[in-house]
Order: sequence, then structure tokens, then C-alpha cells
Amino acid sequence: MKFQGITGNFSDANVEALAVPVFKGEKATSGVLKDLDKMTGGLIAAIIKDEDFKGEGGSTALVRFAAKGSVKATKLLLVGVGDEKDYKAANVGVAAGTATRYLRKRGVRSFAFLGRGDVSASDSAQNAACAFITSQFELDKYKTKDKNSKSVDSLVVCVEGAKAADLKNGLSRGEAIGSSMNFTRDLANEPPNILTPTEMANRAAKMAKEVGLKCEILTEAQMTKLGMGSLMSVSIGSEQPAKMIVLRYTPAKSTAKKGELLALVGKGITFDTGGISLKPGEGMDAMKYDMSGGGTVIGTMRAIALLKPSIPVLGIVAAVENMPDGRASRPSDVVTAMNGKTIEILNTDAEGRLILADAVAYAEKQGATRIVDMATLTGAVIIALGDQNTGIMGTDQELVDEIIACGKENGEGFWQLPLSPEYSKQIRSDIADIKNIGPRGKAGTIMGAVFIQEFVDKAKWAHLDIAGTAWLDSAKPHMAKGPSGVAIRSLITLVERSQ
Ligand code: BES
Ligand code: MN
Ligand code: ZN
Repeated sequence: MKFQGITGNFSDANVEALAVPVFKGEKATSGVLKDLDKMTGGLIAAIIKDEDFKGEGGSTALVRFAAKGSVKATKLLLVGVGDEKDYKAANVGVAAGTATRYLRKRGVRSFAFLGRGDVSASDSAQNAACAFITSQFELDKYKTKDKNSKSVDSLVVCVEGAKAADLKNGLSRGEAIGSSMNFTRDLANEPPNILTPTEMANRAAKMAKEVGLKCEILTEAQMTKLGMGSLMSVSIGSEQPAKMIVLRYTPAKSTAKKGELLALVGKGITFDTGGISLKPGEGMDAMKYDMSGGGTVIGTMRAIALLKPSIPVLGIVAAVENMPDGRASRPSDVVTAMNGKTIEILNTDAEGRLILADAVAYAEKQGATRIVDMATLTGAVIIALGDQNTGIMGTDQELVDEIIACGKENGEGFWQLPLSPEYSKQIRSDIADIKNIGPRGKAGTIMGAVFIQEFVDKAKWAHLDIAGTAWLDSAKPHMAKGPSGVAIRSLITLVERSQ
């Protein structure tokens, strides 16, 4: 894929098509639309007047015209972006992604996108480049025919009068972020016979080598020795050995306060059958995406390695398969986690919290002072929030608020649910310290969170339940259906705002 920034005349870009964000109610009587209207012999004014196109978010209209003089393009795509006052960096991505998918379908190979409105040149370039890449992700990796063979391979971002260096910087940032999101999405899309915990670890290690991250893979023997009885109780029913993937980013020159370390911790269940508390067959196939939290950590660490922020970041993924077997954990088993707490396993399908228990404790042991864990943890969060918002809970309100704010910057919704000692009481066990489920049908998402909370000691902690947001059941104008890569952009912003 080729990226170029231009600061001169938009319509002079050497491309097949021009894509212009158009605000709601905007007329072709002034500014850039007026110029383009003139260029197309009045076609834009006609489209707006005929009420085909009003600049509503998500709407599109294509104008074809003859190339003339310095103008090489023959297509002009109007992309509605809604109210001008609400047009932010994240909306640029939606518009550019919508344009990419629209033009790709029609065989266009190159187009220029106009950065406009109250968004900086570098933010425009970054979000357009990122969406250019993410909008072209498809689920067809394993098709041998009927593959989507079309791709737009060249993007020009134009911000008239901007500094060329700002555009260049934004484009390379967008490329780093978009390709990392697709890296995560590719992992989530992999079938579980291919993406075993071992394969997940191998891919993380290979990526780490390519981008210059330190990577260490803990084996089952090492995890057992560390006392990770909670994580191991999930893995014991699987033929596939569990792996703990540990990725380390260390900046050349750190601006972090001494001893401060942010850790990202992910649930990497490569397939969740439920174990002995077996899930119903219908829809079980969806559980290949149960490693999405871990995939998010890996993709975010990749982006961080490329963007080189000035604080260290630790990435930890517990990669485990949850299977029923002669040796699998039974409901009523009691196990001991790395921090010494005993757990009564009452439902082997509540396995994500069991592996995260040891993963967050390990993160803290590695020196983490802030921990953000992410997981497709509960079906209950889908019922509560659907696919619009990621559930967020935590013990440190400042950290929770910061993640919510980072989400707003990136067009990603995070919605907080409460934690409290009353909720924590509901996972007290009759025979062990805690049990891995709460009362049936009650606050399922919070029960998952208060369980993980038991394994965080002094670190500031936030938990993201991405079960509803990590997978799109239907395509959007700017995104294919399937794995979404949710939270990666917000976490990158979190890291960069912590510098
Ligand atoms: N991976 C699932 C959560 C999930 C369920 C995600 C459905 C997407 C769709 C998790 O391991 C799980 O099975 N959670 C149980 C917990 C329950 C047994 C307390 C759930 O949500 O039903
Ligand atoms: Mn489960
Ligand atoms: Zn699960």
C-alpha cells in the first residue's frame, strides 16, 4: 500500500478518484465544494439540490466527470459526515474507510481524500491512513475462490496549506496503527485448529522480533512452578499446552516516573467449549474469538513498538484452550492461584477469569503499577451494552476515566459498570476463599470483574469486557463484519497520554 500527503490543490492529485467529506446541510456555493462543483460542471450542486445527498453521516454519492487539464481524476465521491461541529479525528476514519470500501467495490485503485474541518493535518492523515488499511480487511483468508481480489492500493491525503511533515508523520502513524489492528483481527479470525496457544505464542514471538519487542514465552512447566494453579486448571483438559506470552517494550529514553509500569493483560482462550460445563452446540463456533483480549494486547504492543512512545509497556497474554476431557476440571474442584487464594470452580465455562487471575498477578509480580486487562469475558455484557460499548470496571477511577476519555478521542465507547464490596461478597465460597461464579442471572459482567479484582494487589487496575465489541455481526460502511480490533486505538492513546 502506498501513502502520500499533499498540501497543494486537492483536485490536482494524480489519482483515479477524489473523496470529499461533506457536512450535513452543506451547500456547493462556497469553499472547496464550490471549486469542485465548478470542476464537475455543476454536478455537486445538482446532487445536493435533488435531495439525493444531504451530508448525513454514512451517506455517499458518486459523481463521474471528464478529466480535464491538471485534473486526472474522473470520479468524485461525496461522503456524508454529519454535523460539522461533531466532525472529529475519529469521524475522519469512518469517512475515509467508507470511501475506501465504496471505491474498492467499483474497481478504483487509487484515490485522494480531503482532510478538512476542525481536525489537524496529522490527525486527518493518521485516521485516513489507518481506516484505509482497516476498511480493506476481509474474512476470506481461507477461500480458494470467490476471494475479494479488489484492493485500493494507493491513498493520497490532501490537507491544503498544511505542513508536509505533519501529513507524513500522520500517515506513518496511521499505517502502524491500522496494520496492527489488522494483525489482531487476523488472529481473531483464525480457526482454533490453526491458532492454538502455541501458534499464538509463535506469531507473537515472530512479530516481536520484527518490530523489536522483547518476548518471553512461559511454558506449562514454568507456570506450574510459579504456582499458577488457576490458569493451569483451565488448560488441563486440553491437549494443547498453555502459553503465557510476555512482551516488553522499553523506550530508548523513558519519561516515566521511576518504578511506574503499565501492563496490558489479555484473555487468550483460543477456543472456549465451556469445558465440562459444556456450552450448547449452537453458536459455539463463535468461541474462536475468545482470544480477542489477548489478540488486542499483541496488536497494541506491535503498534507501540512502531510508534515508540517514551514509557515502558508490558504486554501479557494467557493463551489457553478450554476443552472437556477425562482430565478436565470438574465443577466443585478447588484450585490455588499464584497469589495463594483458593478458588472453588463451580462452572468451568467461567474460565476467562481463572486464567486472568494468574495473568494479572504475574503482571504485578513483574512490576506493573497500572494494569488494564481485556477479555471477551461475559455474555452478560452483550445483553447489557450490545456491540456499541465495551464494559469497563476498575478500582482506580482516574484510570477508568482516562480510558473512557481515550475512547472518546477514537470513536470507541466504554461504559462503566460499578464494583463494590457488596458485589465482591457474592463470590465468597462455602469451602474456599472465592468461587468463580456469582448468583445465577445477576450482574454477570460485574461478577467476572470482582473475581479478577481479587488477584490485583497494589496496582491501579481497570478491566475491559470486550465480548460485545470485539466481533461485528454485520458489515459497516467502513468495516467488514468479523473481528473489530476494538480498544487498540484507545489503548495506544492511553499510552501516549501517559508519556
Ligand atoms: N467466552 C465466554 C463469554 C462469552 C459468551 C462471550 C458468549 C461471547 C458470547 C466466557 O468464557 C463464558 O463462557 N462466560 C460465561 C460465564 C458464566 C458461566 C458465569 C457466560 O457469560 O455465560
Ligand atoms: Mn467460557
Ligand atoms: Zn471464554
